[in-house]
Amino acid sequence: MKKLRVGLLFGGRSGEHEVSIRSAGAIAQALRHTDNTARYEVLPVYIQKNGIWQTGDAAARVLAAGIAPTNETEGSLWEFPSDCRAIDVWFPILHGPNGEDGTVQGLLSLMQLPHVGSGVLGSAAGMDKLAMKSIFAAAGLAQVQYRGVTRSQVCFNSQALPQVCSDIESALGYPCFVKPANLGSSVGISKVRSRAELTMALDHAASFDRRIIIEAAVPTPREIECAVLGNEEPQTSCVGEISFDSDFYDYATKYIPGRADLQIPAQLPESAILRVRALALQAFEALDLAGLARVDFFYCEATDEVLINEVNSLPGFTATSMYPLLWEASGLPFPQLVDRLVQLALERG
Ligand SMILES: Nc1ncnc2c1ncn2[C@@H]1O[C@H](COP(=O)(O)OP(=O)(O)OP(=O)(O)O)[C@@H](O)[C@H]1O
Ligand SMILES: [Mg+2]
Repeated sequence: MKKLRVGLLFGGRSGEHEVSIRSAGAIAQALRHTDNTARYEVLPVYIQKNGIWQTGDAAARVLAAGIAPTNETEGSLWEFPSDCRAIDVWFPILHGPNGEDGTVQGLLSLMQLPHVGSGVLGSAAGMDKLAMKSIFAAAGLAQVQYRGVTRSQVCFNSQALPQVCSDIESALGYPCFVKPANLGSSVGISKVRSRAELTMALDHAASFDRRIIIEAAVPTPREIECAVLGNEEPQTSCVGEISFDSDFYDYATKYIPGRADLQIPAQLPESAILRVRALALQAFEALDLAGLARVDFFYCEATDEVLINEVNSLPGFTATSMYPLLWEASGLPFPQLVDRLVQLALERG
């Protein structure tokens, strides 16, 4: 039987470049696992931080090393590696902007080849927190109150700024969270408690994105995550929880080992688990997601409320990431999970 050639696309032009390399390393290993090796051949395709695509030995070396090379090869963005022609199905595992946001998904669709994960609409809607939350609102999903502003409203218009801040204060109050609409890993996010902090946080978020979201803070939330797998009839995994000591799940807590703990399954009331799983499916459908997504929630113990926070259409996929661990705990080991994802890509075409 001829092996299916899987183009494993990783790295990318985002702050989550290094995580992507580690996710791809774990996926490559799973595709070469004894259960899969007879069926799949992995062709690594590495997008350097400068945007140049690498294949062959250069990409394989990055995958094996698990870290980005110190010196990037120069080249032309217009010279697409010709050995990509051999690929039968793409497995993009790029986190954040320029990879999880529909840009690469559009390119792969133009190549007329199947790819793992969501298409352009689902990826873009899942990346932009303002677009995502307005789709959640239209679908009637429980979430925090929020407002959106643009960079031009907060940076180049000092006369309008006090009114913008007053509107935010009366709609949301303090504390509130200020976030760039299109980023990940908590980069550019601030929790603010006063007008002075709010104006600084708006300025900071505006340095990352034209679009900014401000959200009412959920008091002492528990952070709950659920994995979704499938196309037309998606399934949910068991539910996990992340706990930590910091004020919120910020960049350092996410990436400094030992700062956060995962509990799988989460110790929640059964009725809350059922609501989490139902909301995860509703969000997946509302955003037109496909293949996979991790859906993140806040659970408020005092009120027994479950609020949806966000979806990640290409979640972290290292051996210690929540998405594969949730499936492992739900009876689907890592090698079977990646096999299923490739099969779902082929089904969707
Ligand atoms: N409205 C809120 N109320 C309480 N805590 C919040 C709120 N919004 C964000 N947080 C805290 O900030 C963290 C990061 O927020 P969010 O998940 O929106 O950012 P992100 O950068 O998109 O994350 P990811 O890396 O999952 O893509 C949350 O996990 C939570 O700890
Ligand atoms: Mg998050």
